[in-house]
Amino acid sequence: MEMNKILVGFDGSPSSKKALEHAKSLSAKLNSSVTVLTVVRLPDFSSSMDEVSEVMDEAEKRIVPMHKEIAESAQKEGIKLQTLIIHGHPVEKIIDYAQENGFDLIVIGTRGVGGFKKLVIGSVAQKVVSYSKVPVMVVKE
Ligand SMILES: Nc1ncnc2c1ncn2[C@@H]1O[C@H](COP(=O)(O)OP(=O)(O)OP(=O)(O)O)[C@@H](O)[C@H]1O
Ligand SMILES: [Mg+2]
Repeated sequence: MEMNKILVGFDGSPSSKKALEHAKSLSAKLNSSVTVLTVVRLPDFSSSMDEVSEVMDEAEKRIVPMHKEIAESAQKEGIKLQTLIIHGHPVEKIIDYAQENGFDLIVIGTRGVGGFKKLVIGSVAQKVVSYSKVPVMVVKE
């Protein structure tokens, strides 16, 4: 089995950080490249384009520094890694991006930044597992 390209769904949560660590150690063993994808969800009911771009700017302000740190430490560790921000629905974008770009594996965490504590697995993780044709690894907290 080839494991050239690994996609990590990263929302900044502790669970997604653990997923990233897993993906990195896999890549170190299998010499895969890692793509760290953060999907920024747009508001469903926005009154104006200004509001939409405000949400995007706000999100990017928080995500870009995290991505930068991830990319820098990967570089030091000699791991091939790139980061990416896409706007849209997380489930849809993670699944489509993985399939359209020939990824061998998607790595995600069980929990994210949102979510009810009583749920064992978040809705994004659940749906990615259910609908992705690309194999999915779900890393437990
Ligand atoms: N916006 C996102 N972009 C990229 N990956 C994501 C995003 N949201 C979630 N993920 C991935 O999915 C995993 C599970 O998160 P999920 O969103 O399912 O849980 P939750 O936030 O606790 O619950 P919910 O979103 O259903 O309220 C995360 O650890 C991360 O790997
Ligand atoms: Mg979530």
